[in-house]
Amino acid sequence: MHIHVLGAAAGGGFPQWNCNCPNCDGLRKGTIKATKRTQSSICVSGNGVDWVLFNASPDVLQQIQDFAPLQPGRNIRDSGIQAIVLIDAQIDHTTGLFMLREGKIKREIYCTDMVYEDLTTGNQVLNILGHYCGINRHDVPIDGKTSFEIPNVPNLKFTAVALKSAAPPYSPHRNDPHPGDTIGVLIEEISTGKKCWYSPGLGEIEPHLPPLMSQADCIMVDGTFWTNTEMIDMGLMTKTARSIGHNPQSGEGGMIEKLNEFGDVRKILIHINNTNPILREDSAEHAILNQHKIEVAYDGMDIIL
Ligand code: MLT
Ligand code: MN
Ligand code: ZN
Repeated sequence: MHIHVLGAAAGGGFPQWNCNCPNCDGLRKGTIKATKRTQSSICVSGNGVDWVLFNASPDVLQQIQDFAPLQPGRNIRDSGIQAIVLIDAQIDHTTGLFMLREGKIKREIYCTDMVYEDLTTGNQVLNILGHYCGINRHDVPIDGKTSFEIPNVPNLKFTAVALKSAAPPYSPHRNDPHPGDTIGVLIEEISTGKKCWYSPGLGEIEPHLPPLMSQADCIMVDGTFWTNTEMIDMGLMTKTARSIGHNPQSGEGGMIEKLNEFGDVRKILIHINNTNPILREDSAEHAILNQHKIEVAYDGMDIIL
């Protein structure tokens, strides 16, 4: 299985257009040891030719330009992206769909009922695509047991599960969470049995998750914030990390403590907010991750399982 990180940052990217936090300011000025990152997306292939895109980031056009396998050029209009799986309906994971409107072949969209509802009401992107390429929407089972395959993406199998989370701010049910607002996915390469767990938004590792996550050879999880009060401490937001669906890395019950329970597999943080000190490669926080053998995803990272 080939996993390619198209964008490793959370919403806003790194640096964020309007942000002067020490990280964004330092990156622009070249005074910190860090690399820019686009917004949250990966693509996965089981044959190196046909790819499933996880999330459609606002930066998707740049991401496609930066990764040649997504543009193999077999026909006058063509793409290596055979299908798109949406992890949630958040802006950073869905607005790239507007940029993927060209062509006569319908986009194959895999999402839960809750995400489909948000993307046809509060954010009408899937209705709007009906006036361009059109879509074939496929449901995603979220019981953590029923796996599904994607016809044009051979050799991969997917098992999704509902995660504790919040629907996007624009959602008609923003304050009324439902299973399927956010999912995690176990991706399996059929020929090798290798597995990757992917959950860029993960508010809590609830008891139903370890049975799935522990099957994975590589665990890619929410790396948004270092502390629960990161955005409050910087005066940027009044909400905690956990309340917006992101378990922080540090502290009791944090992601580092939780990941330690999964033994000696690859552990990678993804969907990293620009305020997070782990983005500075020489920071104390980054050193702590090194001690725990936890990697920080970057744009262009390739994971071959
Ligand atoms: C999130 O992951 O919490 C959202 O994508 C935040 C945002 O809208 O940027
Ligand atoms: Mn996000
Ligand atoms: Zn910033």
